[in-house]
Amino acid sequence: MDTGFDVINPATEEIVGTVPLTSADETDAAIRRAHAAWPAWRAVAPGDRARLLRRFASAVDADIENLAQLEVTNAGHTVGNARWEAGNVRDVVEYYSAAPERLFGRQIPVPGGVNMTFAEPLGVVGVIVPWNFPMPIAGWGFAPALAAGNTVVLKPAELTPLTAIRLGELARDAGVPEDVFQVLPGKGSVVGQRFVDHPLVRKIVFTGSTEVGKQIMAGCAAQVKRLTLELGGKNANIIFADADLAKAAATAPYGVFDNAGQDCCARSRILVQRSVYDKFMELFEPAVKGVVVGDPGQESTEMGPLISAAHRSSVASYVPGDAPVAFRGSAPDGPGFWFPPTVLAPVSPSDRAVTDEVFGPVVTVLPFDDEADALRLANDTEYGLSGSIWTRDVGRALRVSRGVEAGNLSVNSHSSVRYWTPFGGFKQSGLGRELGPDAVAAFTETKNVFIAND
Ligand code: TAP
Repeated sequence: MDTGFDVINPATEEIVGTVPLTSADETDAAIRRAHAAWPAWRAVAPGDRARLLRRFASAVDADIENLAQLEVTNAGHTVGNARWEAGNVRDVVEYYSAAPERLFGRQIPVPGGVNMTFAEPLGVVGVIVPWNFPMPIAGWGFAPALAAGNTVVLKPAELTPLTAIRLGELARDAGVPEDVFQVLPGKGSVVGQRFVDHPLVRKIVFTGSTEVGKQIMAGCAAQVKRLTLELGGKNANIIFADADLAKAAATAPYGVFDNAGQDCCARSRILVQRSVYDKFMELFEPAVKGVVVGDPGQESTEMGPLISAAHRSSVASYVPGDAPVAFRGSAPDGPGFWFPPTVLAPVSPSDRAVTDEVFGPVVTVLPFDDEADALRLANDTEYGLSGSIWTRDVGRALRVSRGVEAGNLSVNSHSSVRYWTPFGGFKQSGLGRELGPDAVAAFTETKNVFIAND
């Protein structure tokens, strides 16, 4: 191992641990071990593989409070959110534990013999995870990959390795062989890059920024490596005049400030029909000022700190001294990487706060005139991950949700993620889908075999 990396509590700026950084040589050795472990793992009887995954899910369940506290400390997540995230890993592992016995091919009629398809595992899968949701995003990659009979090497984000390391221990305790699921903390430019470059890694699951995603896609092209990408978002929250405005305004802070806005699904562009714009802002202001920002370990806290000082500087660059701040919530003074919930209006659609993924608690509010205008503004982005539509008109809900170019939309809600439904982005928000019933297929190759009658 390389020299260690200090893990910082973003709410206090205290060092909470030192994690060794995996070197390139150690990464290569881990990949070779994962490759060597693959034939035995893919040969495990489906029922036995399912049982092991169920035991892993039970181990996560029994450790939820510990995992949650680790995430509060390492990522500054509110304790309520962190419990949900640990529970999401349990649910995802349990959900995909049902896959091994249900993963089968087809027999397609052909003349002269029998034609069969097989769903075969790929081999070693490299899962690369960002810092904003360290637990769920790890689980969305490793659970279906393991269920399909692949072995997994997983790289957590350098800033947030603690829960992934713990999940690796829990898998081992549950009986998943050590080389079948390995967690390798370290740098993206070292460990992640080796996953991309190493020929024995047959698929990459990457969640992170669109910028790094593009580099990874280019790297994978050299070996035609399979790839799932979950990238950035700049999601619209479209509020029509006929909506339940009180509910839309009361929930809009959750839609964008949850996880301090460090959420690919954050509804960071609010679009409000012009006739109710002022009324919406009137209702939105107390909701924003009421967001409880502070110690993420307190049950009542709704928003914690940003992940790092560098990230806070990046977020702050979107709110310069002359920024059109409509109103703001509050945030504690230091120590800690705090930033208050901030609402910008009016802004031009070409303002960088409107076009860039700020990835912090900053939201812009723009007016629109009619449905066509709302769709034009909503789709005026390179991203296409999620979004919300607020209206009481079912026909409009349908028309607009079919018109928005994004993978995950909610009507009269801000909910985006259910482990049993597909999740992923249009345009530069990603490639492929995670979660839901079809995700396991993305970790298999289809093989076709013909056996002649004579
Ligand atoms: P990135 O900087 O892109 O990093 C993501 C991961 O990739 C980290 O583990 C990073 O390692 C690693 N990495 C960096 N350079 C690499 C390289 N050259 N080769 C291989 N791996 C490399 O993203 P982030 O700042 O951690 O996360 C925030 C971004 O993730 C936002 O854009 C957000 O929208 C996106 N995100 C998307 C989704 C979905 S589901 N669409 C969900 C969550 C987050 P280090 O930690 O060492 O840098």
